[in-house]
Order: sequence, then C-alpha cells, then structure tokens
Amino acid sequence: MSQTILVTGASSGIGQATARLLAERGFTVFGTARKPDSAKPQGFTMLALDVRSDDSVHACVEQVVAQAGRLDVLVNNAGYTVTGAAEETSVEEAKAQFETNFFGSVRMVNAVLPSMRARGAGKIINISSLAGNTAIPYSAFYSASKFALEGYSESLWHELRPFGISVILVEPGFVNTPIGEASPVAARPLAAYDATRNRMLAAFGHALERGIPPEQVARRVLQIIEQRAPGLRYRVGAQATWLPRVRNVVPWKVYAAGVRKTFAV
Ligand SMILES: NC(=O)c1ccc[n+]([C@@H]2O[C@H](COP(=O)([O-])OP(=O)(O)OC[C@H]3O[C@@H](n4cnc5c(N)ncnc54)[C@H](OP(=O)(O)O)[C@@H]3O)[C@@H](O)[C@H]2O)c1
Repeated sequence: MSQTILVTGASSGIGQATARLLAERGFTVFGTARKPDSAKPQGFTMLALDVRSDDSVHACVEQVVAQAGRLDVLVNNAGYTVTGAAEETSVEEAKAQFETNFFGSVRMVNAVLPSMRARGAGKIINISSLAGNTAIPYSAFYSASKFALEGYSESLWHELRPFGISVILVEPGFVNTPIGEASPVAARPLAAYDATRNRMLAAFGHALERGIPPEQVARRVLQIIEQRAPGLRYRVGAQATWLPRVRNVVPWKVYAAGVRKTFAV
C-alpha cells in the first residue's frame, strides 16, 4: 500500500514541486491551499487549509484520514516572510508571522500525532530554512520563526522517538519561488531605514531569482521519505550546506560582514 503524504502550502513553490514529485512517484498525495479551487490541477488532491485556524487544520487532517484511511508523512511547508526593519514591524505583524510559520506547523503536528502515535509510525518533515541558522537582516521575525521551528523540532525529535515517529528539518538556502511576491513589507516604514531596506529588498529579490529550483528541495524530501531512519537535519543547496559550517569556525565579525554583504546592508 502506498504511503499517504500531506503537503501544506502546495499551491506554489517548494510545496507544489514536492507534492507533484511525490504524486509522480506513486505516493497518495494531498496538497493544500487556502483557495484550493483557484489552484491548477497538479496530479494530486488539493484540500482547503489555513494553518492559522484550528478548525481548518482539523477539517483538513480529518479529510485525509477519511479519504486515504491513514496519514504516514506530514510535510509542514506553508509559510511566508514579512520584511522590513524589526523596529518597523508591529507586534501584530510579528505575531501574524509566527501564527503561520511557527504555530501553523505546531497545529498541524498536534492534529496528526494521535493517529501516528496509535500506529507507532510516521514522519514529520518541517521545512525550515538557512534563516533558521543565520538570521536575515530586515527579516527578523521570519528568521525568529524559523529559529523557533528549529528548537521546537529538536525537542519534538526526542519526545517522539519512543513512538517510532521521525522529526526532520529541511533547511534550504535561497530557492527560486514567488515567496518574495507573496510576502508583505512591514506597514509602518521609518525614513531612517529607507535606503538600507530598499537595498536589502533588491538584494533579497536577486538572491531568490538566483536560488536553487524548488524541485531540488522536492528531491531531498523524497529521499527523506524513502529512508527508513532519517536524521534530524538536511541542508539543501551548496549555500545552506557550507554556510553553517563556516559559521562554526570563523569569528562572528568576519561571518557577519559576509551576511551584510549578501543582503547589502
Ligand atoms: N523560497 C526560499 O528561498 C525559501 C528558502 C528556505 C525556506 N523556505 C520555506 O519554504 C516554505 C515554502 O516557501 P516557498 O518559497 O515555496 O513560498 P511560496 O511559493 O510563496 O509558497 C508558500 C505556500 O504557503 C502557503 N501558505 C501561506 N500562508 C498560508 C496559510 N496561512 N495557511 C496555509 N497555507 C499558507 C501558500 O498557499 P496559499 O497562499 O495558496 O494558501 C503557498 O502554497 C516556507 O516555509 C518558506 O519559509 C523558502
């Protein structure tokens, strides 16, 4: 019997490429979008999901179990990035960022765990980011949400091990997706940050354009699903692979200068 996989945020980018690849490989795949009717058919079943809502999360997971009888793998991918200086970002905007990127994943995990624990098997794949290792200036709350996801997933790894459930973090560097277009800039700009913020946004846009294709992340997720006992962390792309290693060995001031150069700040 083929494994059943649920990929959140499959209307675009990494989630869409992942759900499509897994469906091509014969898995039973459910993808999600907030407006599933407007998403183009991609060879997998599309369900409605807003990860900010408990009701929406429960309805989505119930539909998967009702249609497929079980859920073997959850890919927590839905996310966006709010940009702007930390001081420009309101607490409401910061909370909204966490509601999707962090608590959205937590809601999904809590919804799938009872059935995974009952079966003594399952994989939870959380799409984190290189930004969960090295914070991006002018994306403080996006970076903070990914650092939070890293800590949460590490704790969860220990807690779920006795139940036969694997927790996996996937950490891509820049990926060429429409995430920049889908993402808001903080609504309360301060003139003091204008010049740097504009340079950063241009550099961020170029870095995304030059990023790895989302299919590369999808292939890594497929490898993880096919592994019997996957590890905790998988970095995707050259940048995401070597930068955390460099960070461990060079003085902070040297590393920080490289980060500032990358983001033109
Ligand atoms: N692109 C990169 O450089 C990069 C690098 C590292 C990690 N990542 C991570 O990869 C993940 C996917 O990003 P992407 O680049 O593929 O972005 P994307 O193309 O903009 O796709 C984001 C997906 O998330 C969904 N989404 C957003 N808010 C949602 C909500 N409240 N509830 C449910 N779904 C929601 C969107 O679906 P709808 O709008 O249709 O609902 C969309 O399908 C994110 O977690 C991101 O942080 C991206």
